[in-house]
Amino acid sequence: MKILIDNISSLLGILPCDKKLLAGAEMSEVQSLDNAWLLIEDGFIADFGSGEAPQVDVDRQIDAEGGFVMPTFCDPHTHIVYAGCRDGEFRDKIEGLSYEEIAARGGGILNSADLLHNTSEDELYRQSMERVREIMSMGTGAVEIKSGYGLNTEDELKMLRVIKRIKESVPIEVRATFLGAHAVGRAYHGRQCQYVDLVCNEMLPAVAAEGLADFVDVFCDSGFFTVEETSCILDCASRYGLVPKIHANELAISGGVQVGVAHNALSVDHLENTGAEEIAVLKCSNTMPTMLPGCSFFLGLPYGNARGFIASGLPVALASDYNPGSSPSGNMRFVMALGCIKMRLTPEQAFNACTINAAYAMGVSDSLGSITKGKKASLIITKQLPSLAYIPYSHQTPFIKEIIW
Ligand code: NIG
Ligand code: FE
Repeated sequence: MKILIDNISSLLGILPCDKKLLAGAEMSEVQSLDNAWLLIEDGFIADFGSGEAPQVDVDRQIDAEGGFVMPTFCDPHTHIVYAGCRDGEFRDKIEGLSYEEIAARGGGILNSADLLHNTSEDELYRQSMERVREIMSMGTGAVEIKSGYGLNTEDELKMLRVIKRIKESVPIEVRATFLGAHAVGRAYHGRQCQYVDLVCNEMLPAVAAEGLADFVDVFCDSGFFTVEETSCILDCASRYGLVPKIHANELAISGGVQVGVAHNALSVDHLENTGAEEIAVLKCSNTMPTMLPGCSFFLGLPYGNARGFIASGLPVALASDYNPGSSPSGNMRFVMALGCIKMRLTPEQAFNACTINAAYAMGVSDSLGSITKGKKASLIITKQLPSLAYIPYSHQTPFIKEIIW
């Protein structure tokens, strides 16, 4: 099957095949080709160029009508498999309760765990697929999805089986992360130590036996799991070949970055609270710092210091954190806009953070995240736009003409 896209005003995000991420000053550039065409063969980018399109027999020819063609967004941190919603807590938040106060009252993650417990696997799949279709229609071409609203072995497996079904039913890339240590399950209230034992000795072996997870995550933060507990879970997970992607430094300087890097984490995520020490540790690692501005926006938290990270030569990825408690949106274009408006990233830096670096943060930058020959043709054809900057600038104006998976 051959598809030719021509009449492209600009092809955005071209990278050589050996570039798996962009760091520091590299993040300021988005390589492009004007007046371009692109040839797809059997779902992969076969060729592209500028000027007259080649005369080849194709199954479909798409006239981009002077729009841009860019890689789809990758979203390397979400919790989109959940039941119901938490609109009641939205009211508590408006009344002034903090995320930690809501959690301490037994709301928050435990509230979602109760809802999920009372929802069948089929219904959970149905609700979650609605969200997956929603993010696909907004240009997401790869998504990482976490468990973590089960908090007992059966319900964690239920979530991961739903993620597996999603993987099998959509054309976009899906990666699954086991997050049993998202909060202490209700049955273990006051017995955190035993809960960590359960995660290590019952949940992890069961998840591994069914091959349900690509990654492991721990909410390493004040009021949730300690550095020691995190280390213990990550050690255990490494025996099953699960690479860490962890929640770190959302609510406090938690030591999460250090423990993540010590365990060769693929990414450390959130990072609302970080200083020079975290930057120094990350500089000696292959770990992608991943920031979640949608969470800062929704909870009124500080935004991650993305500019400081980039100025010190580090890469930065952005993700939506789509979840019912701290970021009920999976719109990566809005994430890109928040990156620019609130974190003061340039549109080019935000673009790279949501494409190639986001792909790296979920282990798919070999096949996604840029316009590169041989990569999957997972592409957004935009309407006619004045510039790349227009995408985050006019962030509510529809910009997609067609998406190709
Ligand atoms: O990434 N911080 C921990 N986990 C999620 C929120 C989960 C929830 O509140 O349901 C997050 O923000
Ligand atoms: Fe999260």
